[in-house]
Parts: sequence; C-alpha cells; structure tokens
Amino acid sequence: MAVEVVPLTEADIPGAIEVIQQAFADDPYFKWVFDSSQFNKQRNYDSLAARCHWGIKNALFHVAKETQDSKSKSDSTTLGSTPVLGVSCWLAPQPSAQPESWYSWFQSWTLSFSQMLNNIRYLGHGGLRTNRYWIWKQRQAEAQAAIWDDPRGYYFCNIVAVSPEAQGMGVGRLLFETVTKIADDEGVKCYLESSKSIPNVAIYERMGFHMSKEMECRDGVDACMLYCMVRDPRKE
Ligand SMILES: CC(C)(COP(=O)(O)OP(=O)(O)OC[C@H]1O[C@@H](n2cnc3c(N)ncnc32)[C@H](O)[C@@H]1OP(=O)(O)O)[C@@H](O)C(=O)NCCC(=O)NCCS
Repeated sequence: MAVEVVPLTEADIPGAIEVIQQAFADDPYFKWVFDSSQFNKQRNYDSLAARCHWGIKNALFHVAKETQDSKSKSDSTTLGSTPVLGVSCWLAPQPSAQPESWYSWFQSWTLSFSQMLNNIRYLGHGGLRTNRYWIWKQRQAEAQAAIWDDPRGYYFCNIVAVSPEAQGMGVGRLLFETVTKIADDEGVKCYLESSKSIPNVAIYERMGFHMSKEMECRDGVDACMLYCMVRDPRKE
C-alpha cells in the first residue's frame, strides 16, 4: 500500500474527524476530560470541524491517504471506510520575542466564536468537563515554561491520529516526518504531549523524541498523566 501525506482540504474534514474520533476513543486524556454519560459525538464533530477549518489556514494540518494508484491496484485491501488513514496537526514555532500577529489573533478569535456558537447550538459543551480542560491548560503552560528553553519556539504536535486499522504500518512515521524534516532543516525543536505511556512513548522515541516531563492533571481523586516529550533537530 502506497501512502501519501498531503495538506488537509475541506473535502478531507469528515474523514479526518472520523479517524480522530476512532483513534482517541480509548485515550486516557479524552476519558478524563469528557464525561462519557454526557458525551455528544455530533457536538464533538462540530468542534473538531471548527478546529480543522482554523487549522487549514493557521496550522500544519496534514492527512495521510492511500495513493489513487495504489488504491485502484488493490481495492480489496483498502483500509477503513474513508480514504483518510491518518491526521496530524502541528503548530508552527512562535518565537518568544515576536508578538502574535493581528491575523493570528483574529483567527483564534474566530475559532473561539465558532466554539461559542456550538455551545449555544448544543446547549452546552457536549460532555466536556471545562474545569478539567482549564486544569490541563494550566499544567500545560507550567510544563512549557519549565521545558521550552529555545527562544525560536517549537513545532508543537497538537494532534496525531492514525485509523485503528492502519496503525503500526508506518503511517504515523510518514505524518511525523512531514514536519520533523522541516524542523531538522530549520534546526528547530519539536514538542508533544502524549496521554498514553504504552505504547506511545516508545513510538515517539522511534521518531527521535525523548521524555522531558511527566505532567499530572488532577481534579480531586481523578488524575490524568501526560508525557511531555521533546525532539532535538537532527543534522544530516
Ligand atoms: C501513536 C500513533 C499516531 C502512531 O502511528 P502508527 O502509524 O501506529 O505508527 P508507525 O506504524 O508509523 O510506527 C512508528 C514507529 O513506532 C514503532 N511502533 C509502532 N507501534 C509500536 C508499538 N506498539 N510499540 C513500540 N513501537 C511501536 C514502529 O516500529 C515505528 O518505528 P520504525 O519506523 O523505526 O520501525 C497511532 O498509533 C495512533 O493514532 N494511536 C492512537 C491515537 C493516539 O494515541 N494518538 C496520539 C495521542 S498523543
């Protein structure tokens, strides 16, 4: 099976969201931050769709797909119900000395506004425990303040998901390399947070990341551990 990684387009959004929802269904952070009894899959879809629309213009948002050529040769082995096999969303490095541009500020505002409209439309957050979301954001800010020492900023892997049928077949590596090659060329570090120790920490180590900090997000007796990992640029 030949796979290509291409920028996310409008047409890929439904497939990309399906992959994210499938891949994160058993994710420890997802289970901690959402109340499963209140979870509204359609509300979550719309929230992810808003993020995808924002990401097309403001992030390095890619999808991995089986190439048309490879698909027509092996229809019987096509994986999954959508052509999207994997998704990744990275934020470009933001140098600490450079203030956020008006464009970027406006785009973030537009995303927040879309999410607010979703709250109105669905009469709530669809099971998102907002207090836990803010606990995570606070721990994340502290972790980044402690770890991020490069004033040029970091490529930040915000989402990476491979469809369960396609995991372990090299799709994740292709998605990673699309950005880590740029980071290597520019001599810039990368950062991610994984909510699964096993097997993800080992997978990310294969991509050149190392463990930097274990970050506990606690809400009373319920805690979720996240693993902050950094990748130094490689010189070829
Ligand atoms: C994590 C994830 C993105 C990795 O993508 P993938 O396509 O399964 O990974 P790949 O097949 O490209 O494997 C990448 C490397 O990890 C290794 N690897 C894959 N699965 C592994 C496992 N279970 N244990 C140890 N190493 C593993 C591979 O051998 C490969 O290394 P190599 O190229 O040097 O041989 C994917 O499994 C996934 O979506 N998981 C569920 C959602 C998730 O956890 N997302 C991340 C949240 S932080």
